[in-house]
Amino acid sequence: MQLASLSLFPATREQTIESRKRTADIWKKDLTVNEYILRDETMDSHEHAAGGRLTTWVLAPRDDPTTLDFMCSCETMHRTGVVANSQGLTEVSCFGIASVYTPPDKGGRGYAGHMMRLLHWALAPRAALPAEFPAVWGPPPDVPSVPGAGTGRFSALYSDIGEDFYRACGPTDQPGQGWLVRGVMQTFRLLPRFDLDNGSTPAASSDGDWGWLTEDNAKIVWECDAEQMKTDVVNRATVTGRTVFSFLPNAGVGAFTVQRTMRFKDGAVPVLPTNVWGVALLPGGCSDVQEALSRESKEPLTYATWTLDVRLPPHTLVVTRLRATRKTLPGLLQRIVEAGKRNGVERLEIWGLAADLQDVAGEHGWASENRVEHLSAFKWYGTDPEEQLEWLFNEKFSWC
Ligand SMILES: CC(C)(COP(=O)(O)OP(=O)(O)OC[C@H]1O[C@@H](n2cnc3c(N)ncnc32)[C@H](O)[C@@H]1OP(=O)(O)O)[C@@H](O)C(=O)NCCC(=O)NCCS
Repeated sequence: MQLASLSLFPATREQTIESRKRTADIWKKDLTVNEYILRDETMDSHEHAAGGRLTTWVLAPRDDPTTLDFMCSCETMHRTGVVANSQGLTEVSCFGIASVYTPPDKGGRGYAGHMMRLLHWALAPRAALPAEFPAVWGPPPDVPSVPGAGTGRFSALYSDIGEDFYRACGPTDQPGQGWLVRGVMQTFRLLPRFDLDNGSTPAASSDGDWGWLTEDNAKIVWECDAEQMKTDVVNRATVTGRTVFSFLPNAGVGAFTVQRTMRFKDGAVPVLPTNVWGVALLPGGCSDVQEALSRESKEPLTYATWTLDVRLPPHTLVVTRLRATRKTLPGLLQRIVEAGKRNGVERLEIWGLAADLQDVAGEHGWASENRVEHLSAFKWYGTDPEEQLEWLFNEKFSWC
């Protein structure tokens, strides 16, 4: 089929379900197809997705846009991010992109590449795109009804197919100017099997100076940290002279990585694998996290939140967001190891740890290396040259 006869459309409800049925093949892992679809449906009402923030897109014939026989699909999550430069801080519209999928019988015909190229024309402001939409593609996508469409300052995805495919998918008909892989460092540690303390939960909600975080507490911590992150983004822009951008972990973004772990009891009741999703260092005199956060003068809290990737081996605890100093990191790492043992994982991972903290982690049995999958990649919709841009807090919380 000629690419010009196809366009990008927000999926109908039926197409969204069809897209999920298709992707179940490779992404359901240990869930049944029904459970996989039920998980996505359950999460449709969660904060990261509600109000139209989650859009499924299909590449489909212009003359039959609602067909269930569409070529390929993907998802976008509309988010609020931050950008700082010499002009100060701006809250911006931005997108996470996920679930790019072409069924095997339609593969290798340029469909996914074309969908991704068109996606820029759906997400970005016209002023940030080339003056002319490529004539060989026919008319541009028309997406007035999609929340955030045409307003994105940047978009990001996590490639499991290397660096080149998405880089080639820019907004023109020439290869290039697509998503650029950045910041793929992970710091990890393996846990010996005999060391696992499978299934036990912390005896108390706090442990000396440390407070374990429920999902609700993690949300409160992310809310406070989002404010601190804005300050950090501004400081970083001032120190480097660069344009610095970041996603934020509040507004359902970090909670998405928690809720994704749900399984189902009795067929339909969602159950999470644990009640403990993080740990925080309690300032002197505080007996729990709420008290720590309600204090008037707040030093940024040392904390980590995490998700569990335990549907298939290697079972892994992945830290989603971490804040620590060189002094507080060793204690925090010790708690992460404890949490990993309690959850019976074989591997612990932290994405995007600052270089000075990687050194400290290295002294405590952790190693750092570039990831070979989930390669974080961004596309900037603005005039700043790529080498002038820095993605701060490029951690697991913004994965989708
Ligand atoms: C990756 C995928 C979306 C490509 O869809 P498609 O419609 O066949 O893509 P296009 O025809 O536009 O481009 C094909 C090119 O994609 C690249 N590609 C496809 N699969 C790839 C992989 N696993 N690793 C690296 N590159 C890959 C190759 O360059 C390929 O070119 P080739 O056919 O000359 O080898 C599809 O194969 C798929 O859905 N795979 C399973 C899900 C998946 O991995 N999605 C991406 C998640 S980040």
